Amino acid sequence: MSSSEKMRFAIVGCGVIHGTHVSAIRSLPDLAELVAVCDENPEKAKAAGEKQGVPFFTDLAEMLQQDFDTLTVCTPSGLHAKQGVMGANAGKHIVCEKPIDVSLEAADALIQACEKNRVKLVVISQHRYSTGIRALQQFLSEGRLGSLCYAESVTKWYRSQEYYDSGGWRGTWELDGGGALMNQGVHYVDQLRWAMGPVKSVAATMATRAHERIEVEDVVSASIEFESGAVGTLLASTAMYPGYAQAIEVYGTGGAVIVENSRLKHAQFAGDPPLVQNFERQGEGPDAKTTPVEAGFNAAADPTQVPLDGHIEHLKDLIEAVRDDRDPFMSGKEARAALELIVGVYRAARTGERVYFPLK
Ligand SMILES: NC(=O)c1ccc[n+]([C@@H]2O[C@H](COP(=O)([O-])OP(=O)(O)OC[C@H]3O[C@@H](n4cnc5c(N)ncnc54)[C@H](O)[C@@H]3O)[C@@H](O)[C@H]2O)c1
Repeated sequence: MSSSEKMRFAIVGCGVIHGTHVSAIRSLPDLAELVAVCDENPEKAKAAGEKQGVPFFTDLAEMLQQDFDTLTVCTPSGLHAKQGVMGANAGKHIVCEKPIDVSLEAADALIQACEKNRVKLVVISQHRYSTGIRALQQFLSEGRLGSLCYAESVTKWYRSQEYYDSGGWRGTWELDGGGALMNQGVHYVDQLRWAMGPVKSVAATMATRAHERIEVEDVVSASIEFESGAVGTLLASTAMYPGYAQAIEVYGTGGAVIVENSRLKHAQFAGDPPLVQNFERQGEGPDAKTTPVEAGFNAAADPTQVPLDGHIEHLKDLIEAVRDDRDPFMSGKEARAALELIVGVYRAARTGERVYFPLK
């Protein structure tokens, strides 16, 4: 792909999230174009192809013979690595929906295939681009929180029984890889791990309380010891009707920051009045203006409510990474770190024993 060419994308998996990727590609008309779609369900493939005016396929191997740059993987989570490896071996860059896959072995296979074929791998974690998380990261990089003491990440969401019944893969260990933590909580697991650094050990408890016909948990809580010595709590649920916040709170010797639903809710530093309290921070730096928080996108109860901005930023970053031959911002290794924490929490909950990292 030369610097004057658009990156040509093809999408596999034409379900709920593929529409967000189509919109993100379409919102970058000078940089990106959609050239093909694939779904194993012929009706979904045809509907998506005809709606977007692009060729459609029911067999990924066949689509990979087409001339394009990047394969976007939007299939059930347990298929991400297998299909991503196929794409990498065909010389395509990979945009992979979260989680990277459901096992560390599969994640490693995808990372290695991308390295071997010298293609880029981006794993979606769109909240990293939100105003609240960017502000938290800026405060951390400036050292304004001092020495970190405690952090918690909560996903107090709700998913109906109909949601789990809507796809055979949902709520299965094989293809969903877990429940509230692997599917919904992964976003803020990534934020917790990014903010607090490597994890030393976890203990955890999980249960299935509000849903039937699912193998996985709909509520899980974990107690974390970070390598830094700080302490953490992780909670993820899809059983909290009608759906509450997804949030991260970080407390240090120098101050505290709370990000709720991707917006900065509270920031206070030792000796200063609150910089932000129940207000959204706009702009960067200590003089940033604040405005009252308004209702934003709300995926707390509705899985189709996925804001577009973060996906657009991921695509722009990939295009730049290819042109500059650098690693993407959200690489496979970063996504693997979030997955390792999730796998560790499940192992701790299953065995009842504290689990130590890196996982064996
Ligand atoms: N970033 C986000 O906020 C976000 C939001 C929703 C979903 N997701 C992720 O996106 C992925 C898909 O979720 P969804 O809700 O869109 O699921 P979905 O069930 O709505 O869509 C999955 C699609 O993949 C197709 N498919 C299954 N096996 C296939 C195969 N072997 N080859 C080709 N197509 C196949 C299915 O027919 C279906 O159309 C999941 O990994 C999920 O975690 C991410």
